[in-house]
Amino acid sequence: MAQNKQPSFETIAVQAGHSPDPTTLSRGVPVYRTSSFTFKSAEHAANLFGLKEFGNIYSRLGNPTNAVLEARVTQLEGGAASVAVASGTAAIFNAVITIARAGDEIVSASNLYGGTYTMFDAILPDLGITTKFADVLRPETFEAAITEKTRLLYLESIGNPVLDLADIDAVAAIAKKRHLPLVVDGTFTTPYLLKTIEHGADVVINSLTKWLGGHGTAIGGIATDAGTFDWSDPKFTLFNRPDPNYHGLRWAVDLPPELRKIAFALRTRTVPLRNLGACLSPDNAWIFLQGIESLHVRMPLHVQNALAVAKFLKDHPKAAWVRYPGLEGDPSRELARKLLKKGAGGMVVFGVKGGRPAGEKFIEALRLFSHLANVGDAKSLALHPASTSHSQLTEEQQRASGLTPDLVRLSIGLENIDDIIADLERGFAAV
Ligand SMILES: Cc1ncc(COP(=O)(O)O)c(C=O)c1O
Repeated sequence: MAQNKQPSFETIAVQAGHSPDPTTLSRGVPVYRTSSFTFKSAEHAANLFGLKEFGNIYSRLGNPTNAVLEARVTQLEGGAASVAVASGTAAIFNAVITIARAGDEIVSASNLYGGTYTMFDAILPDLGITTKFADVLRPETFEAAITEKTRLLYLESIGNPVLDLADIDAVAAIAKKRHLPLVVDGTFTTPYLLKTIEHGADVVINSLTKWLGGHGTAIGGIATDAGTFDWSDPKFTLFNRPDPNYHGLRWAVDLPPELRKIAFALRTRTVPLRNLGACLSPDNAWIFLQGIESLHVRMPLHVQNALAVAKFLKDHPKAAWVRYPGLEGDPSRELARKLLKKGAGGMVVFGVKGGRPAGEKFIEALRLFSHLANVGDAKSLALHPASTSHSQLTEEQQRASGLTPDLVRLSIGLENIDDIIADLERGFAAV
């Protein structure tokens, strides 16, 4: 092997962040089931709390098992530091309140996972942070929504559930021009299909619950700091004024340059994670590490099966329409050709002719597909978002995010493709 070659994605996925434990020689990553860690001395304790030295304090702030996961995802994303938390939702909330405070605004794509939409549209405004929604298909609408109060731009790499692919390069160019961080939820692409940092994301969110974990067995999320954003602009008051949440520290001013670079990661760990408490259990971190070890083996099959399903649905007389960014003729196909060179993901959505009642019959007839509210499992999953995951949105909000009442969402698993298609035929036969 060539000297000094950076490890490849596959090797990072299997090995990064851990070498055999020096005490026990354990090859597997140990699960550190402990709430707290002893200090070597009073000085050691003070140094840890003062960020003069890094180490373990209490598992709400960090844990050695979680640290392996964080190091691994950081390297997979090509970032500088990551913070793992209890869910993708917590990662998003923590990221926003690390950057924005009451009186500030954020600009977000409107085609979002329903929970994120509600957080941005209803919960953040109650906390004084207002969201302006932009149209992901028209990047110029992000720029038009920016005011002097805007503190970040936000989008999903592939939007849930309509599967419009975002032109990340175009939105990143706007973010750079207006000196705003771009936060990208890359859950639907994973770093295997798209390294959003290479396209200008300053912070990447992943719901670990989905393809990174890959087996529908645990809930978790992670935010990765690209280490690219300069927070010294005074408009980022949370980074430039003495922070009463952390010893009066000015994150963009007082830290040494190598830590200033990861000021977002440090602040999201030491302020929202430490004080609001949505921490990830080390058992779940371990589960996600098992999943990540096979990410590069699973994703090509998710992609291959999803494309075959999309082609099957395109030609089916009982399907009104189908969306898959990898399908010829799909509105996102051209962008997918540019951004998603390894494939367009594992999700397919379509409309059943006959609308919602037909869609319900279709889903109830499925046997191989599980009818449930998750995506990114090795098992194939089906859902009717308008009546479930996105039902808290008004019809108008659903339409704004591109969601129609007849849409059936499929997360295509790793089963044999003939069995998957046979099950879809069973669904159509019931309509
Ligand atoms: C794109 C996307 N982001 C974030 C989330 C939230 O993740 P979690 O369920 O881990 O909180 C979801 C959940 O479905 C999602 O689809």
